[in-house]
Amino acid sequence: MEQSTPSEPLSYAVTRNPTPASDAERARRMDSQPFGTVWSDHLAKATWTLEGGWGSRRVEAFSDLVLHPGATVLHYGQQVFEGLKAYRWADGGIHLFRPEANAARFAASAARMALPPLPEEDFLASIEALLSVDAAWVPAQDETSLYLRPLLIGTEACLGVRPSMTVEYLLMASPVGAYFPHGVKPVSIWVAQGFHRAGAGGTGQAKTAGNYAASMLPQQQAADHGCDQVLFLDAIHDAYVEELGGMNVFAVRRDGSVWTPRVTGTILEGVTRDSVIELLRGDGRDVIERDIPLAELRDGIASGAVTELFACGTAAVVTPIGRLVAPELDLVVGDGGAGALTQSIRGRLTDIQYGRAPDEHGWMQRVV
Ligand code: COI
Repeated sequence: MEQSTPSEPLSYAVTRNPTPASDAERARRMDSQPFGTVWSDHLAKATWTLEGGWGSRRVEAFSDLVLHPGATVLHYGQQVFEGLKAYRWADGGIHLFRPEANAARFAASAARMALPPLPEEDFLASIEALLSVDAAWVPAQDETSLYLRPLLIGTEACLGVRPSMTVEYLLMASPVGAYFPHGVKPVSIWVAQGFHRAGAGGTGQAKTAGNYAASMLPQQQAADHGCDQVLFLDAIHDAYVEELGGMNVFAVRRDGSVWTPRVTGTILEGVTRDSVIELLRGDGRDVIERDIPLAELRDGIASGAVTELFACGTAAVVTPIGRLVAPELDLVVGDGGAGALTQSIRGRLTDIQYGRAPDEHGWMQRVV
């Protein structure tokens, strides 16, 4: 099997989908569907074996997988994934936002889950190869993008609990608009009761399925309480704010400072989180990464010392949080609407992503 070294140019052999969606069908499917439910015409793939390393790089028609029912991923969840977006600029060009950061996190997540890290240049080459045939799937309307979902799965049929000796890399693409069905409006969050997302030494820092699977029951409970998202507290003290089901969280204070939970190994190190911090600090704003007790947040919202809360992530971008709910607690944040700083940081970030503002940080990478 072909093996890569960093100096070798990586090439994905492209076999075009013989029955791609027609222009009309693609337009119909791209029109306001729920997040992550529409797929482009192709998949990029690569295969890893213990003997040969990474090889068999290819782009082929999007299709279901053939997977042995005993595959490690199905039984023991040996998998990791990423999320990043391709943005269409007004001049038609297609750009990625900090893809090398996602590549690095993908490799770090893989290492934690005893999967072979995909080299960064391979990650980027697969995206370029997929976009070379699926560029038409990058939408052009405001707030839309092509969400890219890289995935590594253990495919070996083996019920022994040990790392898979065969691994498949898959890159799929889904045209998306806003993550939340009601668009970019303030969301309400429910504080998880008796459930934690991650513990010390666990997999909280890795982008792996189990973290998200474990968030679904608390997320259902959030919905039962009329909330859009669940907020997790730390597992040791059940007191400190960590993150939402699939996004990081920030608090804006009346004194102008901004707080966000520090990363401790249990919190996903969001690329959007990092970018928001850099933009705010670049403005001279005090951004404090620290432990945030829920009690302090609650009192701050009640007294007006905390004026805004927002969530951020690739999918959610920057989403205002209008309400914080727990048993015997139902607080409106600020006036319940999108706060001024939340709106401005969302605007700053998306202006860079869509090429409406200069890319002073060198975050954007043109692919097509
Ligand atoms: C993302 O923001 O890209 C995520 O992965 C969050 C969620 C859709 C799982």
